[in-house]
Amino acid sequence: MAKRLEIYKCELCGNIVEVLTGGDGELVCCGQPMTLLDEKTADEGKEKHVPVIEKTADGIKVKVGDVPHPMEEKHYIEWIELIADGKAYRQFLNPGDAPEAVFEVKADKIPRVQPYGNANGLKSESDIVVEVDGVDLPVSAREHCTIHGLWKA
Ligand SMILES: [Fe+2]
Repeated sequence: MAKRLEIYKCELCGNIVEVLTGGDGELVCCGQPMTLLDEKTADEGKEKHVPVIEKTADGIKVKVGDVPHPMEEKHYIEWIELIADGKAYRQFLNPGDAPEAVFEVKADKIPRVQPYGNANGLKSESDIVVEVDGVDLPVSAREHCTIHGLWKA
């Protein structure tokens, strides 16, 4: 059973999909079940993947990671996603780009009640809180590395 914001990969063809609305069915590609990607949250090894979330004058910047990740032809960060205030933002990247993205995030003066529970990742206790427009917003960020998979902060 798929849940909102889960990310699945086909091990045969490499298709990667994100769930917008969960259903009871099993996601299948190339005739076999797709793999639910694990959200890794701790770096190991020399390359750094955990997203670093920073407040900027206009919004929120997400860097991968605390030491910039390589952006080479076969090994790079494909996209960075930010979830904030019930919205999902995504920046797609290419080899040679900087491994970072700036999202123009505006906050409602009164934080909206999150319409979704913790299960779908829109808001969880592990979210980082960033003050935007005088409002403390819980935010989370994810990124996908072509070699090392899915990472979350
Ligand atoms: Fe990597």
